[in-house]
Amino acid sequence: MSMTIHVGSPRRRVDGRLKVTGAARYAGEVAAPGLLHGYVVSGTIARGRIAWIDTAAAEAVPGVVKVFTHANRPRVPAGDSGYQDMVAPPGQPFRPLFNDRILYSGQPVALVVAEDFATARYAASLVDVRVDAEPHETDLDRARETAYVPPKKRDGIAPPPEPRGKADEAFTASPVRVENEYRIASEHHNPMEPHASTVVWERDRRITVYDKIQGVNNSRDYITSVFGLSPEDVRVISPFVGGAFGIGLRPQYQLFLAVMAALDLKRSVRVELTREQMFTFGYRPGTINSVAAAANPDGKLRAIRHEAVAGTSSFEDYQEVVVNWSGLLYHCDNVALNYRIAKIDTYTPADMRAPGAPLGVFAIESAIDELSYALNIDPLELRLNNYADTDENEGKPFTSRELRAACREAADRFGWAERRPEPRSMREGRELIGWGMATGIWEALMMPHSARATLTADGKLEIGCATADIGTGTYTILTQIAADSLGLRMENVTTRLGDTSLPEAPVEGGSWTAASAGSAVYLACEKVRQTLFRHARGMDASPLANASFEHVRFRDGRIELRTASPEGVSIIDVMRAAGLDRIEEQETAAPNAETKEKFSQYTHSAVFAEVRVDEQLGVVRVTRIVDAVAAGKIINPMTARSQIIGGVVFGIGMALHEESMLDHNLGRFMNRNLAEYHVPANADVPEIEVIFVDEHDDKANPLGVKGLGEIGIVGTAAAIANAIFHATGKRVRSLPITIDKLM
Ligand code: MOS
Repeated sequence: MSMTIHVGSPRRRVDGRLKVTGAARYAGEVAAPGLLHGYVVSGTIARGRIAWIDTAAAEAVPGVVKVFTHANRPRVPAGDSGYQDMVAPPGQPFRPLFNDRILYSGQPVALVVAEDFATARYAASLVDVRVDAEPHETDLDRARETAYVPPKKRDGIAPPPEPRGKADEAFTASPVRVENEYRIASEHHNPMEPHASTVVWERDRRITVYDKIQGVNNSRDYITSVFGLSPEDVRVISPFVGGAFGIGLRPQYQLFLAVMAALDLKRSVRVELTREQMFTFGYRPGTINSVAAAANPDGKLRAIRHEAVAGTSSFEDYQEVVVNWSGLLYHCDNVALNYRIAKIDTYTPADMRAPGAPLGVFAIESAIDELSYALNIDPLELRLNNYADTDENEGKPFTSRELRAACREAADRFGWAERRPEPRSMREGRELIGWGMATGIWEALMMPHSARATLTADGKLEIGCATADIGTGTYTILTQIAADSLGLRMENVTTRLGDTSLPEAPVEGGSWTAASAGSAVYLACEKVRQTLFRHARGMDASPLANASFEHVRFRDGRIELRTASPEGVSIIDVMRAAGLDRIEEQETAAPNAETKEKFSQYTHSAVFAEVRVDEQLGVVRVTRIVDAVAAGKIINPMTARSQIIGGVVFGIGMALHEESMLDHNLGRFMNRNLAEYHVPANADVPEIEVIFVDEHDDKANPLGVKGLGEIGIVGTAAAIANAIFHATGKRVRSLPITIDKLM
């Protein structure tokens, strides 16, 4: 990049105004002539068969157009592959209204379509569903007895590495040992915007779909393969997403139902889910970790063993990376990691913000904390003394790893040196004060990604790619990158996202979008620069006639010589002189295969937490958090900070509040609303200080950025749990840490 005016500087969100004024339209808000509304009837048993469904009363309601069930639905393919979306785990994807089988509680069993939403909802209450229930199992503690290593690996999810050294022998031979079980409750994503799809029927077999999704290409491909439509006849649009956190990665059943109804009725149809129905598909799986860690009395780590069991559905083998982190954080010669899944009768779990990482990291970072007390060594010192300089899972160097700097900078800012080591040694009035810390780690991924840059004769630039902005700031950072590349003001750059008519993108997930979309935009703009420069040199009496590309810079809408008194030409003049109404370039950025082969790419963090615990009541307040993040180059410190704060708030939720409660008798998640499923509210969120440590990475991707959407959550719950132990002397190994566990 020739000049970095915008990249690296705080910039307000370019889409902020649209969002706060309500001008941004979400999938469930789009208008269409003659729009019909679908309301989903949710099943109530966890396993069994539908014996019969009586839809007569619903159909008799004025305004009801049709009631769809498995008995009358249009023909759909029977095979699994048609339903396997871009990020599907191995197995048989759920097929809505496919047959009479009930696979989980909350499964859609009918769709009532009416002229308006209220009528559809009322009529849905009249649909009479009779079922034959079969025994179900939703209890992971019982199901874990049948846990298995997934026979087929999920794409993009690394299985645990081969064991190194002899973990069992080294553990037994070590003088200082800890061995415990750590649990994390199931959680639901609870984005503010519930899932919705509005299908605009254009003409026979041609539709435009507004979907709540983290990747329009995923929805489009799903629709074309399930309904046998051609890609040219299906456009999916999703420019704004009201929170997703992973639950928008896979197409969900409301999309299937809305498209099915629209194609069948040859009318536009919207299906929106209720908050309660948001608990009827993917969720973060409850996970049980067994960790053993051992050291010499001097604090040298000898052995780590980490085994995890997590729930999956009866029909898909969901997998995430839970245990691998334990082999990455510390230098240790004897490591054994193991991951298994167990089938329970719920829907398939789904990726949720840093899927797997905060679960495994809670376990290992709690165990290391416990070891520090057993050794009587400061928890931070113990970590730094066992620092891993290379990726010992893979035997590769890191592209960069400023975790040590993150630990030191966060510790300084937090005032860790003032900490009294003994538990229960710090208090104020009736409150016990605890200081705890943990580290975090997440992948710094890059995916193949395309983008288009279009410069028009008025000197304005449009950037386009199909990726989503799920609230992360993608619109803003892409605008910054493009503006700097061509030396434009940000107001003169428009970024368009979330539309299958734009260049193809993967789902926005895995914290890879800044690196991937950002690199693609950078490359496309680079091509526009070169084309422009060629035309600039060819102008009559061009001051750049003898210049080479390296000798010019793009600044203030001009191409100039890099000299003290720069001569140059304006972009608008170049376009006019060349008689061009536009320069349009499309590029694809892809990760460098050789770098991927030789190096490991991770983002790191160090989280320090202060809690205050009311000794009589057991009420925990998180009163301070400092999170230092090493994530390569920071494109926009303002949106970057917001990402980390959001992740930390998720971590507070995981530590203290969030829990999707299954009633194993009914086989159903019970607290299906925001009153009973607690997410942190303002009063639960303290001052959060975010530090970005200097980290230079010239290998991870062309921009040197590592992504920020997920790292904020990763070490947070562990740091809070460790602080609670320091405050109270009570080690709680099961999240969330609710009052009852402290009494
Ligand atoms: Mo993320 S859980 O890949 O949206």
